[in-house]
Amino acid sequence: MRRLLPSPADLDEAGLVEAYRLPAGRRLRMNFIASLDGAITVGGVSEGLGSAGDRRVFRVLRALADVVLVGHGTAAAEGYRAITADSAVGRLRASIGRPPTAPVAVVSRRASLDPADGLVTGAVSPTILITCAAADAGRRAALEAAGVTVLVCGDDDVDLPTAVDRLAGLGHEQVLCEGGPLLLHASLGAGVVDELDLSIAPALVGGETRLLPAGLADVQRLELRQLLEEDGVLFARYDVRR
Ligand SMILES: NC(=O)c1ccc[n+]([C@@H]2O[C@H](COP(=O)([O-])OP(=O)(O)OC[C@H]3O[C@@H](n4cnc5c(N)ncnc54)[C@H](OP(=O)(O)O)[C@@H]3O)[C@@H](O)[C@H]2O)c1
Repeated sequence: MRRLLPSPADLDEAGLVEAYRLPAGRRLRMNFIASLDGAITVGGVSEGLGSAGDRRVFRVLRALADVVLVGHGTAAAEGYRAITADSAVGRLRASIGRPPTAPVAVVSRRASLDPADGLVTGAVSPTILITCAAADAGRRAALEAAGVTVLVCGDDDVDLPTAVDRLAGLGHEQVLCEGGPLLLHASLGAGVVDELDLSIAPALVGGETRLLPAGLADVQRLELRQLLEEDGVLFARYDVRR
């Protein structure tokens, strides 16, 4: 992996961790991989765009996070599992002095998570469900009974600023959000995104799911802070102007 900006350098694994380290305090970063034409899936999942470098960045971002936030659509499509100590992410976390596990927080207005899902049953750090009061009370109770930490944030829909506050209240200040597009759109609209970490795959895909599913109320401006490259894949780190 080589850094192109701000100052050219070759990065080893420790250098990659440093390249993505966050300053102390509250921060929400989004991580996506997209093709040159803005597609984020091939055949319904992101794997077809990935590379060895992207998988390393993915692990580093997870290793640095207090919590991994994800929309239920992505958790279901990508077969999300809990972060365990014996996983590659768990080992990387331990090697940089962090607790080996971190919770996954699933955003679902309808509380769609299944209590029998591996994300629930395999969790060491209890999985978190972020939902709203309109979600079925029976589903919420069943998830709580299965060990899920249920955060009710909002009445008819999930209020994302409240959700981020509640996560910080649980000690999860540094949030890695792994999408998907509906959650990215809502998060930008709610003004909770500090950073976009975008892997840009040198591929053209066409007609698949895009980074954003609909227009934003206003054009969102971003500032390029860092650019890495490996195997033709660009790894951009942007600050979102709030
Ligand atoms: N290339 C990449 O980096 C990347 C990253 C992420 C995802 N993806 C792809 O994106 C696709 C999934 O897209 P998606 O738009 O369905 O994903 P999503 O945003 O993860 O999921 C949408 C679902 O999540 C819940 N949700 C999201 N935002 C919410 C909000 N603000 N308030 C309440 N609930 C919210 C809702 O669940 P309920 O219906 O349960 O209420 C909604 O139906 C998959 O194919 C995945 O592979 C690609």
